[in-house]
Amino acid sequence: MKRSWTRAIGATLLGFSLAIASGLAAADDGHDGRDRGERDNDERFEGKQIFRFDTFGDEDFWGGTLKLHTAIEGSRFGGVGAGVSPKAALAVGLKVDVDALPRSLLMALRAGNVNLDDPAVTLTLLKLNAIVGVTGHFQSGLTLKSIGIQCALCHSTVDNSFAPGIGHRLDGWANRDLNVGAVIGLAPDLSAVAGLLNVDQPTVRTVLASWGPGKFDAELFLDGRAFRPDGKSAATLIPPAFGLAGVNLHTWTGWGSIPYWNAFVATLEMHGKGSFSDSRLSDVSQFPVAARAGFDNVRSDPDLVSSKLPALHQYQLALAAPPAPGGSFNAGAAARGSKVFETAKCNSCHVPPTFTEPGWNLHTPDELGIDDFQASRAPAHGYRTAPLRGLWTHQKGGFYHDGRYATLLDVVNHYDMQFQLHLSAQEKSDLVEYLKSL
Ligand code: HEC
Ligand code: HEC
Repeated sequence: MKRSWTRAIGATLLGFSLAIASGLAAADDGHDGRDRGERDNDERFEGKQIFRFDTFGDEDFWGGTLKLHTAIEGSRFGGVGAGVSPKAALAVGLKVDVDALPRSLLMALRAGNVNLDDPAVTLTLLKLNAIVGVTGHFQSGLTLKSIGIQCALCHSTVDNSFAPGIGHRLDGWANRDLNVGAVIGLAPDLSAVAGLLNVDQPTVRTVLASWGPGKFDAELFLDGRAFRPDGKSAATLIPPAFGLAGVNLHTWTGWGSIPYWNAFVATLEMHGKGSFSDSRLSDVSQFPVAARAGFDNVRSDPDLVSSKLPALHQYQLALAAPPAPGGSFNAGAAARGSKVFETAKCNSCHVPPTFTEPGWNLHTPDELGIDDFQASRAPAHGYRTAPLRGLWTHQKGGFYHDGRYATLLDVVNHYDMQFQLHLSAQEKSDLVEYLKSL
């Protein structure tokens, strides 16, 4: 365990130096040009490294227990099956950080001289620490020893500047291409998950396959409810992790604060070595799986999460929602739409500038006019008013916690009915342009 952690630090430093070497032009940075000492003292910078590269020791789970790395390398490199080609990796929504690639590889890629059907190339990318949110630990050559995941896996994407799926990192953006279920489903041994949920492995695989791109089910490992009463998947959309400063409750159903959820995710979902307490999870009727597994009070020794929570929090608070690019919405219509937002009383809940309520930002399913399934899976039994900044970055996968509304117009039509707004077609389209501008 200790050894794998040492390796994780090694990998982190590798990514760190590659990022520095390539100049890291990312807009979110603002730290370039400072000397090393200043960087090391900068909690936000540390938080960024944690967000991007820290596995919290979770390779013991993803590699050690699930043996995910053996499916990625394939039998040719000592694993199982055919391995995962770069094409397959990109197809399940994994992203490649162009700043981690050496010039020679970039030139070969550009010239079409890299075989994107060859799992060895995926392993090379892993070795370069170029696959966003995934860290491979190598034994020798291209043979993996283990693999771990990071926050950036789900909450970062790339700007596609080099090619689709290959570009500069965009921290905090929801990766709505990522098929988390398909990635986990690659693992040859899901007995630990099956054991936790008290079902067989084929059932676990069926559930994972039901999630689809851009979704994950954080509550599954608490209540074991994989499907809604209507038979659809219980998974929710991956939300952005930017634009959260000033927001009280977090997650779709308001589980708690940012540091609350960070400790929750790192420890209970990513299976990092952390500590976590929440007596609400000892409620056997609402959270049978969590209660059985003792998730209400977890302690790890050593604890590789708790000491990182302050820096991680600082970094997340610093991640502002990116402004909508000019031309991505109709400015005149958006200006009119901002008035509709007021007259339709959208701002009674979505209060600028956070676009959620200052204070208690939770509503009952009835108030919203939607079913209570997902709300019933959280302690507060409500839905959190979604902060609307940066909506333009996550139009894929739909809107509301489960993506039930495919477009912003569908959302507006829902409110029009629910609150009997009687908006005209023009007002609706103006409102949509305003939402796209936030
Ligand atoms: C496997 C994908 C995945 C990983 C990895 C992941 N998250 Fe999330 N994150 C989600 C999903 C899905 C939700 C929504 C959960 C819900 O509402 O039930 C979420 C919610 C959040 C939220 C709440 C956002 C809001 O609008 O209030 C924050 C903050 C967050 N995650 C931070 C992190 C951090 C920090 C890490 C790493 C320690 C992390 N996440 C790792 C998928 C992921
Ligand atoms: C009673 C409070 C309330 C009012 C009024 C309200 N909203 Fe919402 N809004 C919410 C909540 C709560 C959610 C999250 C729903 C969910 O997670 O399923 C939400 C979600 C949204 C979303 C989806 C965000 C995402 O990330 O998927 C959009 C867009 C939105 N609202 C726009 C509006 C507009 C436009 C109006 C006015 C016509 C409006 N809202 C009025 C509470 C409200």
